Amino acid sequence: MDPLVEAVSKITVPLLLERKLRGERISCLTAYDFPTARLIDESGIDIVLVGDSLGPVVLGYDSTVPVTEADMLHHLRAVRRAVRRALLVVDLPYGSYQVGDQTAVAAAVGFLKEGAEAVKVEGGRKRSATVRRLTEAEVPVMGHIGLTPQSFHVLGGHRVQGRTRESAAGILEDAEAIEDAGAFAVVLEGIPRELATVIRQRLRVPTIGIGAGPDCDGQVLVLHDLIGLSLQRRPKFVRPYANMSRVLQSALEKYREDVSEGRFPADAESYHCPEDVREQFEGLGVRR
Ligand code: KIV
Repeated sequence: MDPLVEAVSKITVPLLLERKLRGERISCLTAYDFPTARLIDESGIDIVLVGDSLGPVVLGYDSTVPVTEADMLHHLRAVRRAVRRALLVVDLPYGSYQVGDQTAVAAAVGFLKEGAEAVKVEGGRKRSATVRRLTEAEVPVMGHIGLTPQSFHVLGGHRVQGRTRESAAGILEDAEAIEDAGAFAVVLEGIPRELATVIRQRLRVPTIGIGAGPDCDGQVLVLHDLIGLSLQRRPKFVRPYANMSRVLQSALEKYREDVSEGRFPADAESYHCPEDVREQFEGLGVRR
């Protein structure tokens, strides 16, 4: 880890609030497994999110809707073992809080007991009671408004929100309701830059944007989009920092060719018997 990053202490919820006051941007990425979570943490990213995007990104589902609490727990445990410095946030999956605040608290407490430090909940005004109930139960909550992927069927797909006067006003009200309910940060997904700027100015808590322009207090992306490993079409707001699909494809093709041509493994990549063991094989012909 970069010594400067290492010198910075553990990221906590109060520290993120201070970062907003100081005007320091916050970085966040998704992680679903041990090795990538370790790399993200060591690179000094502030928040690691075990997102329910793991459904489409690594489990092959069409949306986040089928993702279960058991799925989230499985990946949370792997990521927890890797993350030391970043704040570890986990998504409450679809169905774990829409059916009632009791189930929301039970799911969130279960995640905190497995090492999550906060949960993320999608929805604005209609979720404010749930957010309040969770914060009363000592669960730090990150809100998520605008394009909320768990509302896939209601929204009719993944569409930018807040482009009409009415929708923009509704999203601003959502942001204020979630902050008033006690959220320590709010993800703004798929909304116009101008709306995100107003929300950032009006909220005391940090706004973390994804497809919401550069004026948010922080940014979040899905790791696999950023490194070019997603099978889905790349959205406009993703900057591809690497093309890991190409790197992996080329490695896999070379491996297949080397195996079929007998070039892998080489002698140097093989184990050898000591001389006396080798001697006992001498003179053994073909078994008939
Ligand atoms: O599940 C997820 O990855 C998310 C981010 C895109 C914010 O919610």
